[in-house]
Amino acid sequence: MDKLIIFDTTLRDGEQSPGASMTRDEKLNIARALEKMRVDVIEAGFPIASPDEFESVKQIGKAVTGSTVCGLARALDKDIDRAGEALRTAARPRIHTFIATSPIHMEQKLHMQPEQVIDHAVAAVKRARKYTDDVEFSPEDAGRSERDFLCRIVEAVIAAGAGTINIPDTVGYSLPFQFGELVGELIGRIPNSDQAVFSVHCHNDLGLAVANSLSAVRCGARQVECTINGLGERAGNASLEEIVMAVRTRQDVFDCDTEINTTQIVPTSRLVSSVTGFPVQPNKAIVGANAFAHESGIHQDGVLKYRETYEIMRAQDVGWSDNRIVLGKHSGRRAIMDRIQKLGIMIEDDEMDAFFAHFKELADRKHEIYDDDLRRLALVEADQSDQGVYQLIDLEVTSKVGTTPVARVTLARGNEQFDGEASGGGPVDASFRAIEEIVNSESELQLYSVNNITTGTDAQGEVTVRLRKNGVVVNGQGAHTDIVIASAHAYLNALGKLIREPGRMHPQLDHI
Ligand code: KIV
Ligand code: ZN
Repeated sequence: MDKLIIFDTTLRDGEQSPGASMTRDEKLNIARALEKMRVDVIEAGFPIASPDEFESVKQIGKAVTGSTVCGLARALDKDIDRAGEALRTAARPRIHTFIATSPIHMEQKLHMQPEQVIDHAVAAVKRARKYTDDVEFSPEDAGRSERDFLCRIVEAVIAAGAGTINIPDTVGYSLPFQFGELVGELIGRIPNSDQAVFSVHCHNDLGLAVANSLSAVRCGARQVECTINGLGERAGNASLEEIVMAVRTRQDVFDCDTEINTTQIVPTSRLVSSVTGFPVQPNKAIVGANAFAHESGIHQDGVLKYRETYEIMRAQDVGWSDNRIVLGKHSGRRAIMDRIQKLGIMIEDDEMDAFFAHFKELADRKHEIYDDDLRRLALVEADQSDQGVYQLIDLEVTSKVGTTPVARVTLARGNEQFDGEASGGGPVDASFRAIEEIVNSESELQLYSVNNITTGTDAQGEVTVRLRKNGVVVNGQGAHTDIVIASAHAYLNALGKLIREPGRMHPQLDHI
């Protein structure tokens, strides 16, 4: 039985989803969750993109020891040196370098002859090998590249020292039978193909990213690049949860398996959704709220008699919990700690007091605290990105049938306090305007969404706010049983990130 390597690119390609940008703290939290899930390789970012991205890759490389940490680099000296530098202190570093190989990309984007592209690729791999033995090469847009040319460039980069060859269907154009055939042909035709692991990286423009990846695995690929919830550029990448569970569930047709701890799938999916503000559609395979819900009476009856009549996987195996009522106002610190440990929630020792205080505050407003409430509280503790910017001190909103809502807000920044007042189309709109009276951020609100964390009218509402300023996009989150207060927290959380976040470069633009 071969091992199928899982290469997660949520923090790199996933972050290229318009509006999915993450802060350094958020990326580190996600990297830790991926490590806990036993992902083999974490693509932490594109170090040349910005100083902040560089620091983020460096920080993840140092903190994560159980997974290989990878940095992306175009086939350019400056990119490779930057990636090498960011990963210098990493326990298990990998450099992933790429250059486009399709006629359309070489002619229209790179303005390079095929021979020059081969020279760049070989030079890039050799340079990357000076920093680490673990080098991956991708011929970008391989799905639309000529096969003879692909064979030549791949043979050359393997000879130059690339140990992983990643075949991307960059524009999501391939069909499953073609893509599998492509990977099989490359492995069969390239004389030194046995000296590298073949990998695939599929985009979902035609909804075929997972099918294409699985087809390639059947034809010899032994690494799949994927993202949590299928996040990624445009229509996204192949979704990690679908790849892992398809291979695990259909061991009758796959001669390989992953080492993923599948019980971490749902918690990690929730974390990524909460950080990015991208909700998971209810009918999404594996991680959607309805993925294991049986509505029809016939199905319910069948499942009760014998689970396998209508279920091919067990909900617990992918991390769904029964979301028990666990605790309340009178629960002691010990009971809370015990539940946190059982749920696998990681809280640093120095954050425990604050966590406990927030728990008590929530329990005063909400009688029954569920597992999901605890998970949300842990996220708040982990996300310190709005600290030191604006804090919400007070918010008062008047809302009455037939009148325009008015909000009065008090914010603190350092030792100073500021008051703002504004009216708006609704209580949330008025609150945001009152905050802007003070902050005057000149940002544009791109998204406002509310999800309830648990059920019931006393449930906490989780609000995501997306702001954009000068091309920088950030997401802020807030949770509270009062939806207007949750909204104000989310807005301030986003503003905090905007104030700190510098601009970032896109890997597939501005090439060479
Ligand atoms: O889609 C793509 O081709 C990529 C490469 C950088 C691997 O993301
Ligand atoms: Zn991609």
